[in-house]
Amino acid sequence: DKANYRHFMAKEIHEQPEVVGQTLARYIDTACQRVALPVKLPFDFREVRRITITACGTASYAGSVAKYWFERFARVPVEVDVASEFRYRESTLQRGDLAIFVSQSGETADTLAALRYAKAEGAHTLAVVNVPTSTIARESETVLPTLAGPEIGVASTKAFTCQLIVLAVLGVAAAKARGELSEDEEIDLVRGLVEIPRLMSAALTTEPQIERLASDIAKARDVIYLGRGTSFPIALEGALKLKEISYIHAEGYAAGELKHGPIALIDETVPVVVIAPRDRLFEKTVSNMQEVAARGGNIVLMTDAKGAEEATLDTFATIVLPDMPAAFTPMVYAIPVQLLAYHTAIVMGTDVDQPRNLAKSVTVE
Ligand code: M6R
Repeated sequence: DKANYRHFMAKEIHEQPEVVGQTLARYIDTACQRVALPVKLPFDFREVRRITITACGTASYAGSVAKYWFERFARVPVEVDVASEFRYRESTLQRGDLAIFVSQSGETADTLAALRYAKAEGAHTLAVVNVPTSTIARESETVLPTLAGPEIGVASTKAFTCQLIVLAVLGVAAAKARGELSEDEEIDLVRGLVEIPRLMSAALTTEPQIERLASDIAKARDVIYLGRGTSFPIALEGALKLKEISYIHAEGYAAGELKHGPIALIDETVPVVVIAPRDRLFEKTVSNMQEVAARGGNIVLMTDAKGAEEATLDTFATIVLPDMPAAFTPMVYAIPVQLLAYHTAIVMGTDVDQPRNLAKSVTVE
């Protein structure tokens, strides 16, 4: 049931603070401010030489964000691939490698085939899934559930942010096991995680502004999304959300790649959505924005108060999100990109929950 919302997608976007909170409660011991996985892992992170993360669509972007976390916190090399490539490219898994699979439905054909391949190669398999009775959950050696509840809208929203939570906790757990994290650092990261539901609620208050902006985005033929670091997969996710439900062409790029080709697309008709929390890469992204502005591009900047103040350039719109620790901005910045896609689709009059040509669960390859 849609409660009082017009679409399941709207309901699911708004449920995020709550379901992310529930997922966190399963993975964090709040009393002692430590990560606490709900299952005992059948491997030792100290012995893991390499992690592969495999998924499709939005779930693969959760994996791409997690790569930054595993590498930065736990200093372990990570490869991320979409399942349809991973399963056929004869990826060189070794016994003892950790192969992570991320899926809302747990039934995606390519992800399941990739899981079977990794098992046959002797890797440890771990699935982050939302449907606990699914085939991927059943066949994986370890299952870490997301507690998003049923996701009905074809466009994945709350499953994505819950996947990010589980992967973030796993990254912290890996760092701890590998001796890369002091007790204080762990407490700091856990404090940051616990704040996320509140920050997501604050991010939802940008909705009226985003709704107004949507009528301009709806006029565009192409929209570009830019981000660096963990904001790069959020740019990809923003572009995927927009194309899948509004049918407007959109592309996400790593901000630094702009001048290697995509900048040729920029003119006054192309909105450029920049995901740029005021983190250590902010200055770099600002200089990319200047390049966009110099070519007449219309910038929609998603940042925090400090970022809005420091980015002294004319934007078409600036969406101000709450200040927060840099590590976990993806969970919060996912919200305005979801809202922008949703409200643009409303203006376009598309079928938001059941966009054309798409199925909720892709059980054929
Ligand atoms: O059920 P899964 O998470 O395995 O599905 C993967 C993709 O099909 C899915 O995320 C798809 O990209 C969404 N429609 C995106 O919103």
